[in-house]
Amino acid sequence: MCGIVAYIGQKNCVPLLLEGLRRLEYRGYDSAGIALVQNGSIGVYKKAGKVAELVSAIGASNGELKASLGMGHTRWATHGEPNDTNAHPHWDQKREIAVIHNGIIENYQVIKTKLAQEGHIFETATDTEALAHLIGAMYERTGNLCSAVRMALAEVEGTYGIVVLSKHDPDRLVAARKGSPIILGVGDGENFVASDAAAIVDHTRQVVYLEDGEVAELTREGFRTMTIDDVKTDKVIQEVTFELSQIERGGYDHFMLKEIHEQPETIKNGMRGRLLIEEGNIKLGGLQHVMGRLLSARRIVITACGTSWHAGLVGEYMFEQIAKIPTEVEYASEFRYRSPLVNIDDVVLVISQSGETADSLAAMREAKRKGATVLGIVNVVGSTIARESDGGVYVHAGPEIGVASTKAFTSQLTVLALISLMLARQRGMTKEDGIVLARELATIPDKARQILENTEHIEAIAREFKDVKNFLYLGRGANFPVALEGALKLKEISYIHAEGYPAAEMKHGPIALIDENMPVVFVVPKDAIYEKVLSNLQEVRARRGRIIAVVNEDDHEVEKLAEFVIRVPRTYGFFGPILNIIPLQLLAYHMAVARGTDVDQPRNLAKSVTVE
Ligand code: AGP
Repeated sequence: MCGIVAYIGQKNCVPLLLEGLRRLEYRGYDSAGIALVQNGSIGVYKKAGKVAELVSAIGASNGELKASLGMGHTRWATHGEPNDTNAHPHWDQKREIAVIHNGIIENYQVIKTKLAQEGHIFETATDTEALAHLIGAMYERTGNLCSAVRMALAEVEGTYGIVVLSKHDPDRLVAARKGSPIILGVGDGENFVASDAAAIVDHTRQVVYLEDGEVAELTREGFRTMTIDDVKTDKVIQEVTFELSQIERGGYDHFMLKEIHEQPETIKNGMRGRLLIEEGNIKLGGLQHVMGRLLSARRIVITACGTSWHAGLVGEYMFEQIAKIPTEVEYASEFRYRSPLVNIDDVVLVISQSGETADSLAAMREAKRKGATVLGIVNVVGSTIARESDGGVYVHAGPEIGVASTKAFTSQLTVLALISLMLARQRGMTKEDGIVLARELATIPDKARQILENTEHIEAIAREFKDVKNFLYLGRGANFPVALEGALKLKEISYIHAEGYPAAEMKHGPIALIDENMPVVFVVPKDAIYEKVLSNLQEVRARRGRIIAVVNEDDHEVEKLAEFVIRVPRTYGFFGPILNIIPLQLLAYHMAVARGTDVDQPRNLAKSVTVE
């Protein structure tokens, strides 16, 4: 979603801001802009489209613009279409203050109406412009930028991560946060603001995470933080742990392909130091202090969005079948508003790659408010969900840049498997059985590597089907969520309509769609319900549906029914989804490449959905 990068220091910040915006491109956006304080005035340059278009529009690439105070923004349109006018930064009434903003100002119409009565004229359809004018109006009263921002925010309803600069104050940046992440980057004689560490990590690794309701004032020499009511807050400087190489493409055509191929390593990272094979047990430091509550929980409620929700569905099978704990899975966006019956006997587990998804965060806060123990399975270290939960487990997949989530999903499944095994052992699973499962888990990274060693046949299947309009994905048991996730991947990046269904549900409706033009992807490993899925394959075959099947390497039945088979190594049933999804990620990727879509920045999508 929208991205923020800002700088105050000694250097010319123009290349730094543009590079920062490029690093934020993966979040999804439709326009970009920068504001620079130069010679006592503010220059604003903004453009619909990609950062590259902004660069050529302002001719900044040839070094004409220079400033040591500036800020940049990538906008993902909410209020008003994505055009040059609605792009950020936005001005106050006098064009002396500029604002960039992530989030939504819910009462912007009220603010606009009030200010219009005082003579303000608005030029854009955005909510942000209302905030910029409000800050300008407050500045008129106080003559102090930081106070003006605080006073304006006191009147605002909604969510924001903002940066503000003024032509009157060439030595100051003001930032604030409520519901939209803001990080301060601490340098030597220079300081940064960003919505995401990726934008600044090649300049500083020392960061400070703002909390909701905090305001920061940055100069070249330092920063201070306070609440909106001007109460000083104390912050701890933390170290960003990921490497620059992890947010670069490293020779791959797309981040998505790189991240698919990273999975043997990222799955292993999720287990490192946690899988105690000889004890048949699991050690998860982030859950030790809540173990009592986990073990006495009436039930576990998993809540998440999108791919993370699919991981939650697999988690439900793992928790109920391996650990024998009643588990429910809910869309976070529904959970947060339906007044859920949650109480202190429940454990609510939030799964989120980014740790910033607005619906997941709100669901977590709602559960916490009702007294439940809230835990997070999160990828981004230091993210809001990670910080606000009572405990949890990082998946350690490293930065995920591709908008279509891949490695985060298999890492989430890995961590869910670890938690299941840990709880199962605590609830009476024998050490011998634990060892069998732990040994099997340890083989998963190598099995993932085997799948990725030979992918030409998947590319060939993608070329064969690239022009079809619809796809059906079917699976049963823990592989039903794999079917959902395979269909989501295809929709997201190739824009082909795809639906995931439990294989046996097909005959209750979707079977009407099946004919020789309907490709059906089956996930059919040799597990306890293998024979049942074979019957579903027969039903599709009888109606001339074109079958692509993900099967185990030693399967010789499905090939008699399917037009194409993709083979994956065998594993224990509930660990199967970690492997079975990989060919479907590759299929979606190669379909998108064959269709010429922008894999890393698919239309309309944002990497991290920080608005409702
Ligand atoms: C996955 O490919 C998506 N881009 C999307 O569904 C994503 O999983 C969802 O928005 C949740 O994000 P989170 O894991 O960062 O909370």
